[in-house]
Amino acid sequence: MSRANPSGSLAAYVRDLPKAELHLHIEGTLEPELALRLAHKHGVALPFADAAELRAAYDFSDLQSFLDLYYALAEVLRDGDDFYRLGLSYMQRAHEQGVVHAEIFFDPQTHTARGIAFGAVVEGLRLACTEAERRFGMTHRLIACFLRHLSAAEANRTLDEVLEHREIVTAVGLDSSEVGHPPSKFAAVFDRAREQGLLTVAHAGEEGPPAYIHEALDLLGVRRIDHGVRCEEDPALVRRLIREQIALTVCPLSNVKLGVFDRIEDHNLKRLLEAGLRVTVNSDDPAYFGGYLLENYLAVERALGLTRAQLATLARNSIAGSFLDADAKRRWIDLIDSRSDDEPAA
Ligand code: HPA
Ligand code: ZN
Repeated sequence: MSRANPSGSLAAYVRDLPKAELHLHIEGTLEPELALRLAHKHGVALPFADAAELRAAYDFSDLQSFLDLYYALAEVLRDGDDFYRLGLSYMQRAHEQGVVHAEIFFDPQTHTARGIAFGAVVEGLRLACTEAERRFGMTHRLIACFLRHLSAAEANRTLDEVLEHREIVTAVGLDSSEVGHPPSKFAAVFDRAREQGLLTVAHAGEEGPPAYIHEALDLLGVRRIDHGVRCEEDPALVRRLIREQIALTVCPLSNVKLGVFDRIEDHNLKRLLEAGLRVTVNSDDPAYFGGYLLENYLAVERALGLTRAQLATLARNSIAGSFLDADAKRRWIDLIDSRSDDEPAA
């Protein structure tokens, strides 16, 4: 990677900033071409003739309309090799965009409910991440998410399986349909996860109210908030997030695709960043939302007019908000500082 040149292209500048991706659902990296290939491999009938027809179905009105298609397409992921291919394809693309560290969500229940063994999923992903470390020098963490539309008892059973693979899984998270499924529903499961030494994160404040963000912090002990953009409706909460430097894993293209903001120009990312929140940029489900990490950075830069110093701050926040150890964080942040010294930090 070359030292950033102030007159160089902005895309190259952002690409060359070392970045962590902290909000990425591996099932959401399933590109139509791979979905069709795997459907053929496993004899799964999909109601789409080709990749173009499948892409045309990516027209969502809200989170639920997306999740319905997302869970339906996950049907084609059936063995460890599928998860290996999915994981390695993502890591390769992320590497090409300057991602040096990826913290990857997976949804065990989407697979175990169909009779796919938890071990096949997690082993396939682990092998992909190990291969990405060997080929690209990338580091990773795996985060198992509970589906919040299912019961706490089902999440508890999934936690049992996570604990059987304790050395592969770093943290647990909470995703799927947010409204009506507050973090409080899972307080006891998350207590148990933390007692067993797992870290915790949760989606909150994407479609759900700021109260869900408070609950995630107070009842689930989360280290960061996934999305969290609705925090702005509660000034006391915003002050708390700043004070405690809780990272928000914001996903700009996702937010527009799912109607959280009507247009990218309306996104509150720049306001939150300038208020002093530890904002990060992430891609969520890039195969469905029109772009991987670099496209998300460039979309907000273009629409909101971020400076190079602010782009470097977003990259720095992604490292600071990650589960890397202090030494690794220091090394990456020093490198970002050395690349962004053409302008004072924002
Ligand atoms: N929100 C909730 N659940 C999800 C998402 C999301 O953005 N992506 C995949 N599962
Ligand atoms: Zn998400």
